[in-house]
Amino acid sequence: MSSEIKNTLPQQQNVARQDVAQQIAKLREKIIYYDEQYYQENASEISDYAFDMLLKQLNSLEDQFPELRTPDSPTQRVGGTITKEFPTVYHDHPMLSLGNTYSQEELSEFDQRVAKAIPDHHYEYFCELKFDGVAISLLYENGILSRAATRGDGVRGDDITHNARTIRTIPLKVKGNDFPPRFEVRGEVFMPLSAFETLNQQREEAGESLLANPRNTASGTIKMQDSAVVAQRKLDCYVYALVGVHLPADTHEEAIHLLEKWGFNVSPTYRKCPDIQTVFDYVNDWEKRRLTLPLDTDGAVIKVNSHQQQRLLGNTAKSPRWAIAYKYKAMDAATVLEDIRYQVGRTGAITPVACLKPVPLAGTIVKRASLHNANEIARLDLRLGDTVFVEKGGEIIPKVTGVDLDKRPAHSQPVVYLDHCPACGTKLVRKEGEAHHFCPNVEGCPPQIKGRLEHFIQRRAMDIDSIGKETIAQLYQTGLVHNPADIYTLSYDDIHALEGFKDQSTKNMLAGIEASKQAAFENVLFALGIRYVGRTVAEKLAMHFEHIDDLMAASYDQLIEVPEIGERIARSVIQFFENEDNRKMIAQMKEAGLQFAIKKNASDQESTTLNGKTFVISGVFQQFSRDELKAKIKSNGGQVVSAVSGKLNYLLAGDKMGPAKRQKAESLGVTIITEQEFLNMLG
Ligand code: IVH
Repeated sequence: MSSEIKNTLPQQQNVARQDVAQQIAKLREKIIYYDEQYYQENASEISDYAFDMLLKQLNSLEDQFPELRTPDSPTQRVGGTITKEFPTVYHDHPMLSLGNTYSQEELSEFDQRVAKAIPDHHYEYFCELKFDGVAISLLYENGILSRAATRGDGVRGDDITHNARTIRTIPLKVKGNDFPPRFEVRGEVFMPLSAFETLNQQREEAGESLLANPRNTASGTIKMQDSAVVAQRKLDCYVYALVGVHLPADTHEEAIHLLEKWGFNVSPTYRKCPDIQTVFDYVNDWEKRRLTLPLDTDGAVIKVNSHQQQRLLGNTAKSPRWAIAYKYKAMDAATVLEDIRYQVGRTGAITPVACLKPVPLAGTIVKRASLHNANEIARLDLRLGDTVFVEKGGEIIPKVTGVDLDKRPAHSQPVVYLDHCPACGTKLVRKEGEAHHFCPNVEGCPPQIKGRLEHFIQRRAMDIDSIGKETIAQLYQTGLVHNPADIYTLSYDDIHALEGFKDQSTKNMLAGIEASKQAAFENVLFALGIRYVGRTVAEKLAMHFEHIDDLMAASYDQLIEVPEIGERIARSVIQFFENEDNRKMIAQMKEAGLQFAIKKNASDQESTTLNGKTFVISGVFQQFSRDELKAKIKSNGGQVVSAVSGKLNYLLAGDKMGPAKRQKAESLGVTIITEQEFLNMLG
């Protein structure tokens, strides 16, 4: 709490608190409005920056008045809580699993069991898809999400409330007022296929190992210790059950409609079915259609609709007698492994690829499947000539899931993993803790060189769409381009001399290269292809350091100070900039006029009052948070640095600043100013 508030009389304190409470309520209302607009209608009336500022303002008020921070505040969505170990929680009602069937006969048998158990009843079914993710239980008390838990062993699970709050489609507060004081909602947390693909693409770009499938990724993510990382992972959640005593619904259908009304995310794929025949229609209908959905599903769930009948049917120890899962057969096929080829990525990582006897699978002909790395080949004990099973899940590339040992040819031998680079012949290395083998010939290995060039020109980097993959190959083969900076030395004659280039295409390419000089600093930083620096990390680094020179000069400690920059990224950045060839390349690019500093948005710039002035911010402040002060300094032309030195202009001192810092500033003759004096400087 700020000292100003502390030193006032109790009545005044209340007034101040009331004002703040009102301010907080207004901010929340605004943020929730923009948030809903963004996530549900894909529209926004304000800039991302303005939105972040609202959120920051709210966060800072909640920091000052922690008692006003409620669990339904939008600040709770961004995460930031680190959990070492998740507390164990007991479920109010056990989380059961479902009996499985794989055939329509078994489904008929289920229907007969139901008919027999409630002989005098007319009953209906409610069908849903079975979403492939991880089960979650959400507890609401007085309309506020008070606890979220994993299934665990069904009786007790992990309390993952902080992580669940970051999932935008899980309401922190229920809409309306016709809900019971305490109720539980069950659902499935999943990673949409598009989010999974983007995540893997980013990992690939950053030279990280790929995640196996959306289901495992969702289940790993929901149990991550850092909720800020969870917030970035774009998880989603479909709910499929309302649980509790005295529910205001007589049927599952009514419960689902209530959940929809209260603002929960219900997949619109359900259907009420009057009899088992209609259930067959439902499962048949969705067998193919489910592949067009934005998430993985592995079956359908058939539930007796009436709650009273559900109670009459009851449960076995493990699963309800009133529901069953109908599992679709995994889309798989058996075929012969003819060869294993090895690809070399831009980071030198070697990826083995299975070459298969072509086989039809889920509408396409499969000829290749990813094998990830040497461990995967050993795990499957793959041998050439083996009949293997390939499966197509959410991933675009099919995977080998197993071997049909009965069909193994006699005298087959385990695969001996490659030990020299297939492209340049250099001996491969495998560093401790790495799943991949690497070709260390960074400067001379053609696929690595071409890979870096392709990475550099791609849309999310320099966006030179007038250069294609084939042109890269030509530019490399003719010796015109070896590293990305060489692209900026190309002349009209160089390009015109290439095969297939006429006057107009040459001019187009030159224009594309010229235009790329305006690509933003974060694009350039990403384009450099520093290992582990994907698009998001590049943005974080660019925003924090603002200029390549500052980033290049940054120490390990300064790097890990940046939110979300860990040890591994920091080391990789340092290693990249230590390399003499990389430094030369950057100098060449600077010369060519590429952007190596962030461009300030004119509207974010308030004044030039602090131009050329440097500040260190230390301590706790009354009117603004440190982040806000930092933003103010920058938007008025000043610069924020971390260490007090003789060159420093101002030490902006708040409460609780360490005496050592003050002493150092005093001894170096640095001007020490208070928050108010700083604000006065800005007029
Ligand atoms: S109902 C008591 N409905 O499937 C029955 N479960 O073995 C509770 N699941 O891990 C489950 N989609 O998380 C139900 N539409 C759906 C579902 C669904 C996916 C998952 C559930 C659980 C497993 C059941």
